Amino acid sequence: MTTTDPDSRVGRAPASAVDLASDTLRFPADFTWGAATAAFQIEGSTTVDGRTPSIWDTFAATPGKVLNGDNGDPACDHYNRSAEDVELMSQLGLAAYRFSVAWPRIVPAADGAVEPRGLAFYDRLVDQLLAKGIQPVATLYHWDLPQWLEDQGGWRNRDTAYRFAEYAQVVFGRLGDRVKLWSTLNEPWCSAFLGHHKGNHAPGLTDSKASLEAMHHLLLAHGLATRAMREQATAEHRFSLVLNFTQGKADNDDTASLDAVRKVDGLHNRIFLDPVLGRGYPADVVDDVAWLGDWQRVVQDGDLDVIATPIDFLGVNYYSPTRVAPAADPEAVSDGPFPGLRGVDLLDPRGELTSFGWEQNADAFAELLTRLGQDAPGLPIVITENGSAFVDEVDELGHVDDPQRLAFLVDHLRAVHRAIEAGTDIRGYLAWSLLDNFEWAEGYSQRFGVVRVDYETQERTVKSSGAALARIIARNSIPA
Ligand code: NOJ
Repeated sequence: MTTTDPDSRVGRAPASAVDLASDTLRFPADFTWGAATAAFQIEGSTTVDGRTPSIWDTFAATPGKVLNGDNGDPACDHYNRSAEDVELMSQLGLAAYRFSVAWPRIVPAADGAVEPRGLAFYDRLVDQLLAKGIQPVATLYHWDLPQWLEDQGGWRNRDTAYRFAEYAQVVFGRLGDRVKLWSTLNEPWCSAFLGHHKGNHAPGLTDSKASLEAMHHLLLAHGLATRAMREQATAEHRFSLVLNFTQGKADNDDTASLDAVRKVDGLHNRIFLDPVLGRGYPADVVDDVAWLGDWQRVVQDGDLDVIATPIDFLGVNYYSPTRVAPAADPEAVSDGPFPGLRGVDLLDPRGELTSFGWEQNADAFAELLTRLGQDAPGLPIVITENGSAFVDEVDELGHVDDPQRLAFLVDHLRAVHRAIEAGTDIRGYLAWSLLDNFEWAEGYSQRFGVVRVDYETQERTVKSSGAALARIIARNSIPA
């Protein structure tokens, strides 16, 4: 960091098309603003203090899996810079910070022994946050499964769910006196389907039936861990699961088009959400994927009750919609991230895209949130991730002006506001991401941060979107 003067780093007016001076859409008085990161994406220090490899270390070390051969070191060197990063959060005015705990730091080996140096890092981080009045929001699993567990079958092995519950108890036991908001898993759709069916995420398998079995074990892990933590919890603790939602979009509303939307909604959203809400696996989706074979053989008596252990809020991650059309051949298997999907063409994104090639569509976000409010009445929602990747330029003064990211932020906040007005109980918004970071298979090529990270020097520079976020937080409102 070059300077600690908040005015020079956070207070600069953004040179962007969004006129923040006319902010008239107010958020509820108790709305929580913050930002999110994940351990493997920012920490670095992958071999220190007893940490052993995760599946993402292994995947990144496999030639051709991660762009440019990038890996988790040094990432943002956050393991050594947490105090500086918390100071930055404080200057941005964040009320909450969502981070994840690296399982291979806590339980590095198959003997199950707990590594005190790993726990100590998160203990310090939580104290640093609380000292600045920032609410910690802990995620227990953001994709970095210990490699020793993968060697035993990973998420294809039911036993991993029980190991997860034990690990959750350990972390909760250490941090639960100070951390009140907990999420078990981040985006199990990615772990199960990208990791085991599409193969572009760790562990890199392409076995569709196994991906559904992994899904079940992930959901079981969520339920077991939630139960285990609840046994130690007080009335102040809140437990959740973070799912990545999409909104299916077809050009027509004929029966075949609506069916294509239904299938993608089923395999993206409902197959995870419905069992957690106590509705079991959705029958239509189960029928659609039956041709893959009997993946439900891994579902044992009582599992659905465990998975339906009540949660206190739902974490919603949203980035883009999914464009679909009915396929000419109803038996044609879709070449994409959804195991067992047939008869659906996955179309290219439309309109303005991010540098990742993702469609920017805030209306779809509002539709999704409004529908979730109706689908899960009484379950509060926290937007646990939302953000955009763009190519940033550093100007000659060292400033980063990122009007596209700022426009994305404001458009999507307007969508959140609309959904609140329509009756959805949304309690907070956590921007993805605080920092540019390791974007999985894309390595360091995609920048999502509201703060730029120079990976050579580790210098942090608040982008104009970060300055704008600080202002939005301070005023609790956005332009109409
Ligand atoms: C969701 C994931 O949780 C996060 O790790 C990732 O960086 C963002 N999506 C952007 O792809």
